[in-house]
Amino acid sequence: MSTFTTDTSRHLTRVVRGQPTSDGAGVKLNRVIGTQVVPDIDPFLMLDEFRSDQAGDYIAGFPEHPHRGFETVTYMLAGRMRHQDNHGHSGLMEAGSVQWMTAGRGIVHSEMPEQEDGLMAGFQLWLNLPARDKMTEPRYQEFPATAMPVVQPQDGVSVKLIAGELAGKAGPISGVATQPVYWDITLTAGTTYTVPVPETHQAFIYVFEGELQAGPESSRHAVQCSQMAVLGQGDHLELVAGSEGARLLLIAGLPLREPVARYGPFVMNTQEEIHQAFRDYQAGRF
Ligand code: CO
Repeated sequence: MSTFTTDTSRHLTRVVRGQPTSDGAGVKLNRVIGTQVVPDIDPFLMLDEFRSDQAGDYIAGFPEHPHRGFETVTYMLAGRMRHQDNHGHSGLMEAGSVQWMTAGRGIVHSEMPEQEDGLMAGFQLWLNLPARDKMTEPRYQEFPATAMPVVQPQDGVSVKLIAGELAGKAGPISGVATQPVYWDITLTAGTTYTVPVPETHQAFIYVFEGELQAGPESSRHAVQCSQMAVLGQGDHLELVAGSEGARLLLIAGLPLREPVARYGPFVMNTQEEIHQAFRDYQAGRF
């Protein structure tokens, strides 16, 4: 049963698997957005999944590196990561926690595992900033697992809200120009759930446990574990969990529709702004 009309049900426009890569000082990652296959999904510039119980895959971490012009969102599922920046800010990211870092005009930081063995798992999303906010003061929003509401909009559905509103509750992240939705959704086996997604937003899902079918009944597609699906337009998405249930991220944001000039950890609007970012970084102005 659905109170929505079928023409506003979001289709899946692409279903893709991430690409194995390494970054930082040699951390093994599954890059889902930010590849040649999917360079970006405006306003999302990158999505990396890290998941390994082999210390050699993550132990080298991400030593000191800069960011300018966008936001990094780290969501830890398992393990512990210590971050530290050049403005004296530091903290420990633990299982279930989120760090939403608005790099703005620039920070230099490190992100290093605070464990020598065991499982390390989670996601890092890069979210673009509009031109007017690219040189804003850096800002952190950091929350432990307990600070994020978990709602049960119906039987068999549990949704952890990191950003965005659902079922009368809201995730703790605020004041972000792209008005993001960031939900961690768990479906029990065989559950059908119609999830609202703001019509104005670009959106995708990433399945990281089990599998599911998604899209309108007339054109439903399988999305397997470790696959991302880009969503077409509409105001809701139909999900049907497989026989082992499913767990997925649903992420959405207002597209910026601005030119993107990107080089490594700098994401600006023009090449000249990228050159300026290099000059500022080299001169220690971050
Ligand atoms: Co970083």
